[in-house]
Amino acid sequence: MNQKILAWGLFCCWGGSLGLHATPSLAATMPTPQTATRIVQTLKEGWQFCRSNRFDAAHSQAVRVPHDWAIYGPFDRKHDLQVVAVAQNGEKEATEKTGRTGGLPFIGQGVYRTSFEVADTTSRSITLVFDGVMSHPRVRCNGQEVAYWPYGYNSFYVNIDGIAVPGTNQLEVSCENKEGQSRWYPGAGIYRHVHVVNTHRIHIPVWGTHVTTPTVSSEQASVQLTLEIKGAAHWQPIEVLTVLTDADGREVARNNGTYRARGQVYTQSFRVEKPNLWSPEHPALYTACTTLRVDGQEVDRYETRFGIRSLDYVPEQGFFLNGQPTKFKGVCNHHDLGPLGAAINRSALRHQIELLKEMGANAIRTAHNMPAPELVELCDELGMMVMVEPFDDWGFSPKSPNGYGAVFQEWADRDMTNMVRQYRNHPSVVMWSIGNEVPSQWGEPGMDELKRLCNAVRRLDSTRPITCGMDQIHTVVSNGFAAALDIPGFNYKPQHYDEAYAQLPQRLILGSETASTVSSRGQYFFPVKFADHQVVMHPNHQSNSYDNESCPWSNVPDLDFARDEDHPWVLGQFVWTGFDYLGEPSPYDTNAWPSHSSVFGIIDLASLPKDRYYLYRSQWNTESPTLHILPHWNWKGREGETTPIFVYTSYPKAELFINGRSQGIREKNDSTVYHRYRLMWMDTRYEPGEVKVIAYDANGKQAAEQVMRTAGKPHHLVVSSNRTSLQANGEDLAYLTIQVVDKEGTPVPTDTRPVKYTISGNGTFEATANGDPTCLLPFQQPTMKLFSGAATAIIRSGKTPGKVTFTVSAQGVKPATLSLAVE
Ligand code: GAL
Repeated sequence: MNQKILAWGLFCCWGGSLGLHATPSLAATMPTPQTATRIVQTLKEGWQFCRSNRFDAAHSQAVRVPHDWAIYGPFDRKHDLQVVAVAQNGEKEATEKTGRTGGLPFIGQGVYRTSFEVADTTSRSITLVFDGVMSHPRVRCNGQEVAYWPYGYNSFYVNIDGIAVPGTNQLEVSCENKEGQSRWYPGAGIYRHVHVVNTHRIHIPVWGTHVTTPTVSSEQASVQLTLEIKGAAHWQPIEVLTVLTDADGREVARNNGTYRARGQVYTQSFRVEKPNLWSPEHPALYTACTTLRVDGQEVDRYETRFGIRSLDYVPEQGFFLNGQPTKFKGVCNHHDLGPLGAAINRSALRHQIELLKEMGANAIRTAHNMPAPELVELCDELGMMVMVEPFDDWGFSPKSPNGYGAVFQEWADRDMTNMVRQYRNHPSVVMWSIGNEVPSQWGEPGMDELKRLCNAVRRLDSTRPITCGMDQIHTVVSNGFAAALDIPGFNYKPQHYDEAYAQLPQRLILGSETASTVSSRGQYFFPVKFADHQVVMHPNHQSNSYDNESCPWSNVPDLDFARDEDHPWVLGQFVWTGFDYLGEPSPYDTNAWPSHSSVFGIIDLASLPKDRYYLYRSQWNTESPTLHILPHWNWKGREGETTPIFVYTSYPKAELFINGRSQGIREKNDSTVYHRYRLMWMDTRYEPGEVKVIAYDANGKQAAEQVMRTAGKPHHLVVSSNRTSLQANGEDLAYLTIQVVDKEGTPVPTDTRPVKYTISGNGTFEATANGDPTCLLPFQQPTMKLFSGAATAIIRSGKTPGKVTFTVSAQGVKPATLSLAVE
């Protein structure tokens, strides 16, 4: 068998890449390809790549797909240097923006080649599916151009019947990125998966099913499954059997009938008794397994995974999931995975979602582009609601001159169609956003563009509301734009919510993008003050981890918490952003190289939580308490100076001690919005030693205690892992956190020494990062400088079971070693 064929799959769902590679139990029963009715090959290895406009075998390199050619760097201020006035940030004059798209070499052309096998084409239908190629991909199969799809974030497919041949088929994908196509790092190349779907001539096409749950209660639910069936002769009868199973594989309903092929769709209805409802807390999933038979012979088997849940957006009252009042505790995320770049990896996404869930988040906005299918699948599985948002630009006055605006007129309907068809069966998707801060909010053609996009959604899905992230609140309230959406989504300016609420017809408001607080992990600046839109530039290009700084248009989290808490009609919020991302290093974006990645994240580029994580956790995680002290307590040279201490906690009050002396009790109160959510001792003075906080619950009882100590001399390294074992699939990742500690094990939060990694056994080194937005060290070398005392190393599992051993060493301290089982 061709070694490129990683996943032969019978009965494989086509909702994306939910192939057998994700279901080891099925993989164990791999059928021979010749008897399979549906075979999905995911083309991962065996690609050759040239960073050029023409394929040249002599200068090509072997790569694995997903692949991001630009993440290997090197960083340079010259890459995509943009001279612009960022209008949505209120800028009037164009300035040179360094690092706006990450300072990485993503511009230019690249070509990929591979081949795939088709056993026999008789009565077969072959379709290529691309989850996303950045960007403007042109696909050639056996020398013939078969597809072009300009938007790098969307999935697309092309049928190659008549072009595919029995035996070996050649595939070539070329793509091109342009200057000024993006406001952030887009990645480059085939950064998502590519699949070959080989079915019988009579089959359910890609994304060819549509599940809805028209009635939902705890007693019963109705499920409707609409099927497209392709390839049958006119009037041909096809027997269609669909069996619904729950997460344990138990049958809960079935429907059997005959479809007469006359160009129509076929809808089957089901009743499910006592359904397990999907929610972030209980992400219960079902599967509809549809079998098509002709003359008793099976010709196709297709699985559609879905969930049963109800969505109600009630005027004045907010959002109800399965009848339960639910606030969006959401984050916006860009698609890059920090040091992995845009190259998608399921276990990296899983790690992101796990960190966000631990914080108490329940939703993600895919800002501002279609997600990877893996992200939405994981959100279904792990329990995270999703707002899918395709665009940052429409046709009118685009923000990025070579971005989506250039193709909007021609491609918008096709892009919307693919997006809605691909994601409408996912229970995690609870809302569509048709755009982000598009200038069409105020431009005359905007209403036509809005209607066009809303119609494109409603034609394919009438079960979810449509919003749009709008930042020109006064304008959109007065010009009818906001009223033309199902849900008005506002980016920032929570102080204007009441006024807008009073004027808008929907009687609901969503914080579609909030906060944009800026902070760098473990970096603190004095004196500590609060003010609206507090923009402070520090000489080292970092932002204050006291969480008191923002941008001219943005604010600190406390203001958004208050809006959410005070008004049922505020549906909740999506914070900008869950994770730091490559590009947009505001406020250090104007000729401020080497800044090249954001400081907006609650979690840094190395996936390490900042202090802000605990502020959100204290409000959002209602399952387990939060008690977090900041800043660190290693301030040599600040002895006797005012060094405020903040405690982010879910408890209402706490007492603070420095070296055993009480600094008084603080209780959350309404004197300012900051006092409402943080306990703050503004006058504490630094002295080395121990800081202790004792928290009290609502009944005034001592509930928890937390201690922080000044670290002594750096003594040894420690390494911890987010995983205890890895799957032996060559794709699983572990995120290792490296810290320097003193003899007693207290972390040294100011250490910046370089560390080196060695890896042996059944795994390889993948990437490293430290979360410093000014650090230009490559992500792929097994060495990194600590930032605020920590760094992250990512290791990849091998394909054979065994053990992978990781060692980190550095000058002046003892090394640390960690082993993980690879199973
Ligand atoms: C918003 C925009 C985001 C990001 C953010 C930074 O206006 O929608 O994409 O640029 O500002 O604060």
